[in-house]
Amino acid sequence: MPPWDDRAVPPSPALWLDGRLVAIADAHLSPLDHGLTVGDGVFETLKVLRGEPFALTRHLRRLRRSAAGLGLEVPRTDAELRAAVAELLAANGLAPTSPADDAPPPLGRLRITVTGGIGPPGSDRGDAPPTVLITAGPAAGPPPTVDVVTVPWRRNEHSAVAGLKTTSYAENVVALARAHDQGADEAIFANTAGELCEGTGSNVFVVHDGRILTPPLSSGCLAGITRELLIEAADVEERPLPLDALARADEAFLTSSTRDVVAIARVDGAPLPTAPGRRTTEAVHAFSELVGRTLDP
Ligand SMILES: Cc1ncc(COP(=O)(O)O)c(C=O)c1O
Repeated sequence: MPPWDDRAVPPSPALWLDGRLVAIADAHLSPLDHGLTVGDGVFETLKVLRGEPFALTRHLRRLRRSAAGLGLEVPRTDAELRAAVAELLAANGLAPTSPADDAPPPLGRLRITVTGGIGPPGSDRGDAPPTVLITAGPAAGPPPTVDVVTVPWRRNEHSAVAGLKTTSYAENVVALARAHDQGADEAIFANTAGELCEGTGSNVFVVHDGRILTPPLSSGCLAGITRELLIEAADVEERPLPLDALARADEAFLTSSTRDVVAIARVDGAPLPTAPGRRTTEAVHAFSELVGRTLDP
């Protein structure tokens, strides 16, 4: 089991559910919640660094964008969600205990989920308000490199939910299980046009002839916050790429909120020429400089 895997992290003692903090053991969610019955929901995963949720402004913006894409309204203001996050981090030991406290709080992982709320068992939505759920717990840091495999299943860039961070992640569950079965850490999808798209929980970048390239959002990939920040901080070209641009790359890397920028060592079992290569190392530095400057870029 990889050390950064969710299953390595003990459950956090409290969560925030529809307006209040509750112990996980006392939290009640309806079995008729549409998020559970049909995967009708959206979410955000953020890392918590030095006691602060990283890039919270961008994550809240994307949460609302994903919710709007499903026709859901997030029933809380940004200020309410920020206050909820701060309250939860403090309750779960992820915030500094006092301003004078020298020991930095541990690295954490925060998730904000909004679902369609209680609804009929089919695809129709009910009249109940959406459910808002926030969880947070400690996390391990990312690994130095990752191995990836390509999978035969396609991302549908024409889907009504393309580019939305919905809770319907069963395709990702199946693909990631395939990757783990093959001894790899992440699975990479092509889209229906056969172009390189993204991982189950990451965006993908390749280096060809010294240039850093990544698929455009029109490929159907998620507009990753780490991807977006890296494009702003480094020299990255967005362009459609064939799937095999990954296996042929001089170097390649993944980005995600929990992994930052991490070099790909092997693709489908074959090592890439360097991991991390020169351009990947530059990208790692550009991203960590940005994180050093501000926690809400
Ligand atoms: C499908 C998918 N693509 C890309 C990413 C990376 O996005 P971010 O950098 O915002 O974490 C994620 C994050 O979990 C994801 O689920």
